[in-house]
Amino acid sequence: MDYNKTKVNDGVDSWETMMLLYNSALKEVGTKLEILNDEFQHIHQYNPIEHIKSRIKSPESIVKKLKKRGLDSTIENMTEFVNDIAGIRVICSFTSDIYHIAEMLRNQNDIKVISVKDYIVSPKESGYKSFHMIVSVPIYLSDSVVDTKVEIQIRTVAMDFWASLEHKMNYKLEKNAPDKIKQELYECAQMVSLLDDKMLTLNEEIQAEVERQNKLKLEQNAQSTK
Ligand code: GTP
Ligand code: MG
Repeated sequence: MDYNKTKVNDGVDSWETMMLLYNSALKEVGTKLEILNDEFQHIHQYNPIEHIKSRIKSPESIVKKLKKRGLDSTIENMTEFVNDIAGIRVICSFTSDIYHIAEMLRNQNDIKVISVKDYIVSPKESGYKSFHMIVSVPIYLSDSVVDTKVEIQIRTVAMDFWASLEHKMNYKLEKNAPDKIKQELYECAQMVSLLDDKMLTLNEEIQAEVERQNKLKLEQNAQSTK
């Protein structure tokens, strides 16, 4: 077996093989994230990840996306041009967790980062905030290794709450969403940012207070045993 023959979804000849690869890639990245979360719990006594959602894009959506770009629905076009066939959404408590997780994934040798879009630093016009990475992971088949793409979206619980409602609006109203609702959603996005900032600061203050009180207790114990 020649493991040097690593390809980015090259030579994938059937829909079944393609789906097997994307499902495997979701499992690989999902496991990596769970391990990082467990290790974090072990070292820092807290979980940076609230929960993980993963999904495979439906065949209809894949075809629709290619059609929009004027491309034929071939397996080759799917693997080359549709980056989010395998998608994982990682929901965190704090904004700082997002960057921690992204960094830890990036540092893994077998993960190749194909692109990064930081919509937290540069939110979308809608107000949408999230951290996106397209990565590839090697999937070991019986006679080849295929680097397979996964879209990873990392966001806070609050950002996710906002994105779900905004998505629902776009899905249900398509292009007919009233400006007033769009404007109010935009304002909500600003509130989400304020909330995320405040929760992060509060968390740090709580942590500092816990440490201060623990130190005090230790000093008092030391005094009483003297
Ligand atoms: P798509 O073709 O829609 O996948 O977008 P893209 O290739 O330009 O990539 P981008 O990173 O901008 O968006 C990828 C995904 O992020 C989308 O499929 C959505 O799941 C999510 N997303 C991006 N923008 C918005 C937004 O304004 N609102 C919501 N609710 N989700 C968004
Ligand atoms: Mg998408």
